[in-house]
Amino acid sequence: MHKLMIFGFLLVPLLAFVKSALPPPCDSEIYCTGPILHQVQKAKLFDDDKYFVDMKLRAAPDEVLLAFRNLSNEYPNTTVPAAALQEFLSVYFVKPGTEFESWTPPDWHDKPKFLDGITDQELRDWAQKIHNLWKSLGRKIHADVKDHPELYSQIYSPHPVVVPGGRFRELYYWDSYWVINGLLLSEMTDTAHGMIQNFLSLVNRYGFVPNGGRIYYERRSQPPFLTLMVESYYKATEDKEFLRLALPALEQEYQFWMQNRSVTVTVNGTVHVLNRYHVQVDLPRPEAYTDDLELAEGLTDDHKKQLWMDLKAGAESGWDFTSRWYVVGDIHNDGTLRGTRTSKILPADLNALLCLSEKTLASFHRIMGQGDSAALYDRAAARRLQAIEAVLWDAERGAWFDYNLVTHSKNFEFYPSNLAPVWAQCYSQPEMGEKAVQYLKGSGALRFPNGVPTSLRDSGQQWDYPNAWPPLQHMLIDGLSKLPSEDAKQLAFDLAQRWIRTNWLAYMKYDAMFEKYDVHGDGKPGGGGEYEVQLGFGWTNGVALQLLDQYGATLTSGSRAVSSCLLLPLAISPTLMLQ
Ligand SMILES: *[C@@H]1O[C@H](CO)[C@@H](O)[C@H](O)[C@H]1NC(C)=O
Ligand SMILES: *[C@@H]1O[C@H](CO)[C@@H](O)[C@H](O)[C@H]1NC(C)=O
Ligand SMILES: *[C@@H]1O[C@H](CO)[C@@H](O)[C@H](O)[C@H]1NC(C)=O
Ligand SMILES: *[C@@H]1O[C@H](CO)[C@@H](O)[C@H](O)[C@H]1NC(C)=O
Repeated sequence: MHKLMIFGFLLVPLLAFVKSALPPPCDSEIYCTGPILHQVQKAKLFDDDKYFVDMKLRAAPDEVLLAFRNLSNEYPNTTVPAAALQEFLSVYFVKPGTEFESWTPPDWHDKPKFLDGITDQELRDWAQKIHNLWKSLGRKIHADVKDHPELYSQIYSPHPVVVPGGRFRELYYWDSYWVINGLLLSEMTDTAHGMIQNFLSLVNRYGFVPNGGRIYYERRSQPPFLTLMVESYYKATEDKEFLRLALPALEQEYQFWMQNRSVTVTVNGTVHVLNRYHVQVDLPRPEAYTDDLELAEGLTDDHKKQLWMDLKAGAESGWDFTSRWYVVGDIHNDGTLRGTRTSKILPADLNALLCLSEKTLASFHRIMGQGDSAALYDRAAARRLQAIEAVLWDAERGAWFDYNLVTHSKNFEFYPSNLAPVWAQCYSQPEMGEKAVQYLKGSGALRFPNGVPTSLRDSGQQWDYPNAWPPLQHMLIDGLSKLPSEDAKQLAFDLAQRWIRTNWLAYMKYDAMFEKYDVHGDGKPGGGGEYEVQLGFGWTNGVALQLLDQYGATLTSGSRAVSSCLLLPLAISPTLMLQ
């Protein structure tokens, strides 16, 4: 309370737009709200708004706030000039990245067995290099973060982590599923175990897994892959004791999604429960503060708040950002990022993932000999299957589509997520899977030589055409490979071959793995969105290793064809098929 009085004179003029009844992104008056955040971000001292909120404090938060008040008093009717802000930051903050100790995973070793299964010599050498990258992506958080959490935005996690890379200087939730799968192939079971332990302790602390390991992410999540992480670990180790210890947190996370991220929808007189992304925090994202302020300029206060909530829900979806979340037909939609209404959409992939999680939780309980609990999750999966088929499945088109709660209709645009129930094996009739293959073939999304694009709409956002993302390739390929028909299995292999060739060509050119790729250009990294394309890169490495493991006997680098025309027959001009 007294803080509000001390800073009231500053808060009122500067943050007059922030009359929020909801909680802020986090409780820190430095990292998530308040005059320092506002003035530093608005002064655009750094290229990326994430830079400031990743800085460490040199003094206690109250002292820093007081010092800023003193500084502000020197500029009575205006904001603090950029030079004085810089000076202030140099006195009270440390540049980002200092909260890590260098850490080489002790369970890393030179020759994991999966490498032997890769026939193509060039691909095997490359797989070895990807395996080596785990050493440079390992991070251990300094004990000072545990002892003085108030000086950091980094959330302390007890076990070392493998970070995505680049600007992502902390653990991320859904990225880690593919990282962990890669680590398990690399026989780094202890590192994988530690990463899962970190997520379990986050559930114990927050009731769910935050988007990432920073306090400014602590009121939103990401696609809930924790149950599947535990499943991957269990498959690799058959460690029942770990399963027993993990299960309560997995169930708690599931409860969070059902209590805080579900809605009822009535179709054809039947009421169904399905899930959505939904974040009830209506202030700008601290790590993208000026982007959010500028995007909302000119809107009424209510529409600003709505937009900021839906941008955070977009971040929670992992697809930040995409035309997939633009709600068409709503009066405020102008077909741009400002039309983002993520919370009004029931996504096919989120619901497929939760269906798979329900089936997996049932199987965990069966392994533990807990038949009654298993039956509970079986029933939840059965209910969800009905809901998915009533609300999302489209028999005419042969795929599953996001349902729009504003227009009460499906969105028939192409996204790889339209096949997520194939991956989750969450459909009742075998022919649905094969229909979905026909849908994919007719979608126009298979015409690109370097992967399946995220959509067919070139919006300038990074989760849209022409970008192709590793997790989406993996879910698609994995789903197709599990279908019974040779046709589907062949398609799965063809897509794996294209993706591996894309990753490999880019590696040859840039000596790097990227977070995303362009579906044109034979090894061109992706672009667009809020920040520059990042190197590293956790999930890219994980997906590449999984595909090299699954198809190692038959994949080729295609190196002899790099400068020839091998790829040309596939490279139909995109303008032919973009509406
Ligand atoms: C702020 O100003 C007051 C009064 O001028 C001074 O006593 C105090 O030390 C200053 N605090 C900081 C943190 O600079
Ligand atoms: C600041 O504004 C107040 C009221 O608007 C005015 O009286 C005062 O002179 C201004 N001070 C400066 C330094 O401009
Ligand atoms: C979930 O929603 C309930 C109210 O429905 C609320 O009390 C609880 O704090 C929410 N949980 C989280 C983790 O946000
Ligand atoms: C509604 O139910 C009827 C009768 O069961 C069925 O023929 C129809 O296809 C259903 N409509 C939708 C949109 O599911």
